Amino acid sequence: MVSSEAAPLAKTGGLADVVGSLPSALRALGDEAAVVIPRYASIDLKNARRVYDRLAIHFGPAQYDISIYQAPGEFPLYLVDCPALYERKGFYGELGVDYPDNHIRFAVLARAALTVARFLFRTEVFHCHDWQAGLVPAYLRTTFATDPTFLGVKTLFTIHNLGYQGLFPKPALPEVGLDAGVYRPGGMEFFGRISYIKGGIEFADALSTVSPTYAREIQTPEYGFGLDRALLARADVLTGILNGADYREWNPETDPLIPARYSTDDLSGKQTCKRQLIEEFGLPADAIQGPLIGMVSRFTRQKGADILAEVAGEIVAEGMCLVALGTGDPEYEDFFLRMAAEYPGRIAVRIGFDNALAHRIEAGADLFLMPSRYEPCGLNQMYSLRYGTVPVVRATGGLDDTIEEETGFKFAEYSGEALLEAVRSAAKVFADQDAWRAMMRRGMAQDFSWGTSAARYSALYRQLLAGPGVNPLAGKIF
Ligand code: ADP
Ligand code: GLC
Repeated sequence: MVSSEAAPLAKTGGLADVVGSLPSALRALGDEAAVVIPRYASIDLKNARRVYDRLAIHFGPAQYDISIYQAPGEFPLYLVDCPALYERKGFYGELGVDYPDNHIRFAVLARAALTVARFLFRTEVFHCHDWQAGLVPAYLRTTFATDPTFLGVKTLFTIHNLGYQGLFPKPALPEVGLDAGVYRPGGMEFFGRISYIKGGIEFADALSTVSPTYAREIQTPEYGFGLDRALLARADVLTGILNGADYREWNPETDPLIPARYSTDDLSGKQTCKRQLIEEFGLPADAIQGPLIGMVSRFTRQKGADILAEVAGEIVAEGMCLVALGTGDPEYEDFFLRMAAEYPGRIAVRIGFDNALAHRIEAGADLFLMPSRYEPCGLNQMYSLRYGTVPVVRATGGLDDTIEEETGFKFAEYSGEALLEAVRSAAKVFADQDAWRAMMRRGMAQDFSWGTSAARYSALYRQLLAGPGVNPLAGKIF
C-alpha cells in the first residue's frame, strides 16, 4: 500500500485509520501487506531500522537522496526518509497553504514505493491511496512499462476523497520525470493542468472507493468534482468497499483514553464520561440534563459547518449543547469560533488535533453530528455507534450506507433547516430515555469490523491477479 498517512504515526483524517488497520485485517486472512509512507518530521526514527541506505532518485537533472526505514509493528511499515522534502511542520502544507513542491514530494513517494517493491517487499499488487499515490500507476504504465520487475504487477487505486486531486501546472511534468505523453484528456491532463488523482483513475487496473453510495455519487456531476465522466468511463472496474472500524482502538469497554468504561449491559460509565466532558469544555453542570452534541472533524468545506452555523441558535434554544473538536481551513475554524463566542455556556470548541480528546467526545456526547456536504465513508459515525453516541448525519456517501432509522437520524437536503429537523427528532427521542437507551443499544450492537471489508479487498486483489495482463507496449488488453 502506498499512502501519505498511516495511523498512529501520521494522521490527519480517516485515510490514516484505514491504512493503519487494513493491513492487519488482511494478514488475518492470510495475505501479506506492507505500507509505504513518507517519514515526516513528527515521526521518530528511534525504534525504526534503516533497511535501505542512500538511494538516488533522478528526475532529469534533479536528484533526491532517500533512505528507507522500517518501523516496528504488525506489518512492514516503510518510511521514506528524505529530509529535504518531508522534514517540515505539516504533511501537505502550513497555515492552509500547500507546499509548493508537493508534486515532487509525492512523486518521490511513488518512486520510493517502486524501490521498496524492487528490493525489500515482493509486490504483486500496488494498492494506492488517494492522489498522493496516483503516480505509482502512472510510472508503471510509462517509465517502468517494460521493467521486468513489474511485469504482471497490478494496481488498485482507492479514492478516499475526490475533493483533493493533486493539481499542478504543466511544467511540473518534467520535474517529476513523467513522460510528456501522459498529458492528454484520457491521461493526466485536467483543464490545462496535471492531475495526480487522474494518474490513479486513468492508469490503475482497478478502482475502488470507500462506500457503495459514494461509488455511485462520484459518477454524477454533483459529486464528481469534474471527474465524473472519467469515472463513468471506468465504471466497469470501479467498486465501493465500505471502510471498517478498528474496535481494538474504538471500544468503550476497553478504551484507556476515556474516564469510565461502559458496555450495553452497564451504561452508567457513559454518564461519567458526559459529566467530565461538560466540565472539560467549561459548560455549566446543568448541561448534563439535555442532549449533548459532539463533533470531531476536519474543519473544511466538506463537513457542513456552514449549515450548522445557520441553525446553531435554534439548536441551543432547544436546550442542547454542542462540543466540537477540529482543525482545518481558517475560514471554517472561524465558523466554530464564532458559534462558541455567540453562545457561551452552550457551544464550546477546541481547535487542534487531539486523539485522546476525540475519544472522550465519542464517549461523553449523546449525539454525534456529521452534516457533511459529501462523505466518502466517514469513520466517526461508526465509532459513535459503538460508543452509544447516536449519529445525526446527512444521508450521503458512507453516512447513508452505515446509519439506519433504527440506529440514528438522517437528513437528505443540504440545508440548515433539514439539519435542525433531524436534531429535533433526536431530541424528541432523547426525552424518552427508555426509547433512547434502546436506540443506543441497537447502535452498539452493530458490527462494522474490518473482516468483511478486508475480505472484499483480498478478493479484488486475487481477481486482478487472475485477470488479463496488460501489454504495456501496446497499452491494450491482450
Ligand atoms: P475524514 O477522513 O474526512 O477526516 P473520517 O470520519 O473518515 O473523516 O475520519 C476522521 C478521523 O480523524 C477519525 O478517526 C477522527 O476521530 C479523526 N479526527 C479528525 N479530526 C480530528 C481532530 N481534530 N483531533 C483528533 N482526531 C481527529
Ligand atoms: C476521507 C473521507 C472519509 C473517509 C476517509 C477514509 O478522508 O473524507 O469519508 O472515511 O477518507 O476512507
